[in-house]
Amino acid sequence: MITVTLGLENKTPYYQVDHRGKNIIGKSRLGLRFKDVPHLDGGFAISSSETSSFDNIWTQPWGEKKDIRNHYNELRAILTETDGLKRSMVVVFRVYDDGIGFRYELPKQESLGDVQIIDELTEFQINDPATAWWIPAREWNRYEYLYDKTPLTEVSHVHTPLTLRTEAGLHISIHEAALVDYAGMTLKRGRGQSLKADLTPLSDGIKVKATAPFHTPWRTLQISDTAGGLITSYLILNLNEPNKQGDVSWVTPGKYVGIWWEMHLGVASWGSGVKHGATTERTKTYIDFAADHGFNGVLVEGWNIGWDGDWFSNGDFFRFTEAYPDFDIKVLSDYAQSKGVRLIGHHETSGGISNYEQQLSDALDYYQKLGITSIKTGYVADGGGITFTDENGKTHYEWHDSQFMVRHYQKVIDEAAKRKIAINTHEPIKDTGLRRTYPNWVSREGARGQEYNAWGEPGNSPEHTAILPFTRMLAGPMDFTPGIFDLLFEKEKPNNRIPTTLAKQLALYVVLYSPIQMAADLPENYQVRPKTFQFIKDVPTDWENTLVLNGEVGDFVTIVRKDRHSDDWFLGSLTNEKARKFEISLDFLSADTTYMAQIYGDGPKADFENNPYDMVIEEKQVTAKTKLVIDLATSGGQAIRFTPLK
Ligand code: NOJ
Ligand code: CA
Repeated sequence: MITVTLGLENKTPYYQVDHRGKNIIGKSRLGLRFKDVPHLDGGFAISSSETSSFDNIWTQPWGEKKDIRNHYNELRAILTETDGLKRSMVVVFRVYDDGIGFRYELPKQESLGDVQIIDELTEFQINDPATAWWIPAREWNRYEYLYDKTPLTEVSHVHTPLTLRTEAGLHISIHEAALVDYAGMTLKRGRGQSLKADLTPLSDGIKVKATAPFHTPWRTLQISDTAGGLITSYLILNLNEPNKQGDVSWVTPGKYVGIWWEMHLGVASWGSGVKHGATTERTKTYIDFAADHGFNGVLVEGWNIGWDGDWFSNGDFFRFTEAYPDFDIKVLSDYAQSKGVRLIGHHETSGGISNYEQQLSDALDYYQKLGITSIKTGYVADGGGITFTDENGKTHYEWHDSQFMVRHYQKVIDEAAKRKIAINTHEPIKDTGLRRTYPNWVSREGARGQEYNAWGEPGNSPEHTAILPFTRMLAGPMDFTPGIFDLLFEKEKPNNRIPTTLAKQLALYVVLYSPIQMAADLPENYQVRPKTFQFIKDVPTDWENTLVLNGEVGDFVTIVRKDRHSDDWFLGSLTNEKARKFEISLDFLSADTTYMAQIYGDGPKADFENNPYDMVIEEKQVTAKTKLVIDLATSGGQAIRFTPLK
């Protein structure tokens, strides 16, 4: 049981949280500070408070779980200044079985109109000594860091979701829900284990510009005895508004391949020339491959004018309606559709927002006319390096998670929805569950993906994908781009490699949820391993249910998901650099049914460093009563498909 207390101390508001009768979040401050007008941070009385309850079940159009229960008790308290302007501020708390959310609402009032927020005072005073898994905020990279694990007292300035485990074994994730027209919230540590909201500033130093009435995003705490309980908490989605896009049957989950990995391996280029990857001919091979193996999308990067030279720094040169001459987009899009496949569009902006926004309508119209129904967008620019030019020709530099970019990403989502186009954002603002309200926002990057293994500076550690499910993935789907089969790519980049076994690449499809999943390797590398490839062909990306069978942050995790469109179940299990073995119960399967389990596991000699390809693919008949032993090699994994036998 979770209890929230809202109170005033010397007229200054605070809240605290108890869990099973024990105080876990100590007295933590609330309030907002403004430029030019008096702050709303003290001098209050609670002028009214009311409680209510809510309980319903809603259905996701696509997702990791079909039906979600939204069950909470709400407290709405109005805080009114006792002197001066006598303004009011509403604080709303929603208390769930799996955590809490709260937000500030600023009603329209005579003495409160346009405001410029310079600080949000929200604190999270963590009581018990805790370990934290974190990535730094406001650094040169956006969110693409290896996670650090330290005592909370060694955290300085971090992004959310921030995952904590207390000494008593309680898991807490601090994040936010429904980040709309506001600044992203990062956390700064104060004394001891006290964390405080630190809103990402706009280029002029103001954090948020708003006009009452408005409300902030929800500040969230997910609380669970087990690490896995964080994964099956749907609190973030529950705190978002229901779908505002109506019939979204045009948003189609699925799997895709693409002209992509070859650029990261350096064997093809985004820009024009002899190495140009996005040629008509090469794209046809991909379309054929996709059609032959049941993929519904083909991503092609480097298809449009603007990639030549230092594209990283030339965000203003991209043309979003002009293909390179050796890429016949019309012919290819028609060809793809004739085979039941769609091209996936690509808009790399390099963070040049003015250039992109000027072309946005035309660019989306252009794709819509071609029958392209989904786009991967990209904002490759260093943190604080997003640019836009104002009406006076002055260039401004923005962060990826400021209010400016929150608005920009939203604009792309809204414009794309008008044209029935889905968006997968790379270098995004972190996810805060907005897919519930805007289901065409299908996926994002927002953490280190597979590409880092090609770049190797350094690559992802074996524990990285054992940390993501309990950190980044709590925010929402990630386009990690799993499924590299040529783990060593000795010819292309002999010093780098994929730091996993082959079986672990398969497990990622179940462990790292996204409604769109890439089979990221080159077709040639799949063709030589058809038996292993079968799992990628079989695994769905749209689920009726998700269960976490075991897991510890950074160590291992086993997740099972039930297909939304059949009676099949799928399992993904993976470990960090340590080999491990455990027994799992299959009691999630339907009783009285025998299933064929197709098991793709690490072989007896597998070890990610010296023998990453050793795999056993076998079939076993199982029932809900079966106990299955999962044997994972170092940085290993296991993937299973369970199909009911008729
Ligand atoms: C970074 C993205 O994460 C990657 O997938 C893409 O290939 C490059 N940007 C180029 O757009
Ligand atoms: Ca990236």
